[in-house]
Amino acid sequence: MKKKILVTGGTGYIGSHTIVDLIENGFEVISIDNYLRSMPSSLQGIKNITGVEVKNYDVDMCKFDDLRNVFLQEKIIDGIIHFAALKTVPESIDQPLFYYENNMFSLINLMKCVLEFNIQNIVFSSSCSVYGNVKQLPVTENLPLEKPECPYASTKQMGERVFIDFVKRYPDFKVIMLRYFNPVGAHPSAEIGDNPIGKPNNLVPAITQTAIGLIEKLYVWGDDYDTRDGSCIRDYIHVGDIANAHTKALNRILENNNEENIEIYNLGSGEGISVIEAIKTFEKVNQISLNYEIKSRRAGDVAAIYADNEKAKSKLGWEIKYTLEDMMKSAWLWQLKLQDNS
Ligand SMILES: NC(=O)c1ccc[n+]([C@@H]2O[C@H](COP(=O)([O-])OP(=O)(O)OC[C@H]3O[C@@H](n4cnc5c(N)ncnc54)[C@H](O)[C@@H]3O)[C@@H](O)[C@H]2O)c1
Repeated sequence: MKKKILVTGGTGYIGSHTIVDLIENGFEVISIDNYLRSMPSSLQGIKNITGVEVKNYDVDMCKFDDLRNVFLQEKIIDGIIHFAALKTVPESIDQPLFYYENNMFSLINLMKCVLEFNIQNIVFSSSCSVYGNVKQLPVTENLPLEKPECPYASTKQMGERVFIDFVKRYPDFKVIMLRYFNPVGAHPSAEIGDNPIGKPNNLVPAITQTAIGLIEKLYVWGDDYDTRDGSCIRDYIHVGDIANAHTKALNRILENNNEENIEIYNLGSGEGISVIEAIKTFEKVNQISLNYEIKSRRAGDVAAIYADNEKAKSKLGWEIKYTLEDMMKSAWLWQLKLQDNS
């Protein structure tokens, strides 16, 4: 019998790629997503890739009774991957209550159901933003967490705390928390990808939207940092590699291979790439010249951050398959597909 996994935020960017990876690895999947930040068309994309029609419950996880009904209807769920959350840093600064309400209430409601329906295997989407303004590179999982830089990061730190306290009290439950660095790119088929609402906040969607003419000019915020070309350094990782780490994490706890009942892993390429290197790579692999301009530094940006990913590689058996070139190529194919559909 196939194991049944509940993916929350399943029609979102990382959720949809993870559903594909789970299906390709023999899982049955159901999803909860209220389309707050995504569209039902992701489900068609998943079907076009896998041939499987995934059931999505259009439920706001902040509404406890509606959420509980999903568990009542599904009866047996073997594991949960919890992606559903709001994730945009500037928006979280602008609307802190919206962020705390959505990200925390949904999580608490989920954990009440986890307890009531005794679902013992959970993977949680965390973020490198929990590290705050890091003082040591590369970033290892055991670095003490600094002050969160925004309400979004704060919801991820608090989310982690909820899980830590939960498994302390209920040690039969197993949790893996995955701290992503910068997920980018799209499925190579261009059936699913990142579809940010409004002005993109992340570099790669900003690059592709500039290339297609939705944004007039791309701004590079600062070229006087203490980095190899003066622009900021980040750790970009293909969303397909991120997705596969979830399948591996889930298998680890489902098969009781975990060493602790709560484990944390960084998901990054382990390599720092500068903003200018990312732009040049995009231009080269897609044969497109980008209209970009160097501006002065932007408040809140750290010069460089990249992961130490050895733990994920050794304990989860995670292997990175996609290169920076793959990330830029697939992101562009996805942007072209979005344009065709608009
Ligand atoms: N993409 C990144 O750069 C990144 C980096 C680090 C961590 N993360 C985390 O990964 C997770 C997934 O991110 P993503 O990039 O796929 O974002 P996304 O916005 O594409 O997906 C999140 C999904 O959750 C859904 N959702 C939000 N609140 C909900 C609610 N109350 N009830 C039901 N559904 C709800 C949204 O509609 C959306 O489809 C998030 O928790 C995010 O914080 C993302």
